[in-house]
Amino acid sequence: GGIAAYKIVDLASALTEAGCEVRVAMTPSAMRFVGPPTFAGVTGRPVLSGMWSADASPEPHVFLGDWAQLILVAPATANVIGRIASGRSDDIVTATLLAARSPVVVAPAMNDAMWAKAAVQENVTVLRKRGITIVEPESGHLASGHEGAGRLAGSAALLDAMVHAARSRYDLAGRRVVVTAGGTREPIDPVRFISNYSSGKMGFALAAAAADRGARVTLVTTANHPQHHGIAVQRVDTAEEMQAELRSQLRGADLLLMAAAVGDFRPAHLADRKIRREETPSLSLELAPIPDLVASLASDPELDGVFRVGFAAEDSELDAKAVE
Ligand SMILES: Cc1cc2nc3c(=O)[nH]c(=O)nc-3n(C[C@H](O)[C@H](O)[C@H](O)COP(=O)(O)O)c2cc1C
Repeated sequence: GGIAAYKIVDLASALTEAGCEVRVAMTPSAMRFVGPPTFAGVTGRPVLSGMWSADASPEPHVFLGDWAQLILVAPATANVIGRIASGRSDDIVTATLLAARSPVVVAPAMNDAMWAKAAVQENVTVLRKRGITIVEPESGHLASGHEGAGRLAGSAALLDAMVHAARSRYDLAGRRVVVTAGGTREPIDPVRFISNYSSGKMGFALAAAAADRGARVTLVTTANHPQHHGIAVQRVDTAEEMQAELRSQLRGADLLLMAAAVGDFRPAHLADRKIRREETPSLSLELAPIPDLVASLASDPELDGVFRVGFAAEDSELDAKAVE
């Protein structure tokens, strides 16, 4: 909460007009400078002004931290900068920052003597070291009547910093990425299958990394792990199901990461009832080859626009087989 809060009304309005979804969270002091209805009016969304309001979500800071793709703290007072540096979370702004998963831009604004104090400068250094972008205040005439450094940076500088922070985090924005994960399962009978040791963790990690970088991600997987925010998951079992799912998902995709371990063989015959121990003194499984999914996708001219990356687990002569 500082006098420069009124300038953020214009910025919030311009961002909303430009098509951004904007939500405003205010400290109690900020609300003394600008009324929440002003921000609600220009953004078209309710303002979050506290942690305990009955009509907001049960954990408004977690909601905002999950939702935001970029957070701007402006005007950042000496007080809020100190509270962010010390990890406080006793109001909606600082709690949201702790719950944030997005890049954060902080734009300080204060009296020149406040800005010059070692305490403030040391707190700003802490924020920078933690990866927060600081938009330095400008020099000029201050609301307090003094001349010096402390004026909130202009809207162009704030926007520039926001664009830069967003571009460096979300360098896959607008891209469609398809990832496969896990070992395929080929049924023997209705209750058994053959598979391999693939855990699916590599595919899940790749999908999460692509989503964090702003891609629209579809994960075609046989494995179950906790799902990362914002990934569309398609569950499959067999190599054939994986292939069919990939065919439909790959239309319009930019990148395919094939981290799944697709089986090379499947039972030639599927028993339609459980093979019972009592009726089966010994059992030989006849296996039939599964067409090479990675090879068929790698050589498919219809997928020319899709950059395709294949994975293979080998147990010997790793370099030679990788080159091959
Ligand atoms: C009229 C007035 C103007 C203020 N302007 C600023 C300012 O520009 N920058 C600043 O750091 N503090 C300013 N303050 C002090 C803050 O409002 C105060 O430190 C408050 O506790 C900040 O709370 P917040 O960081 O939770 O918003 C001002 C106080 C008043 C009364």
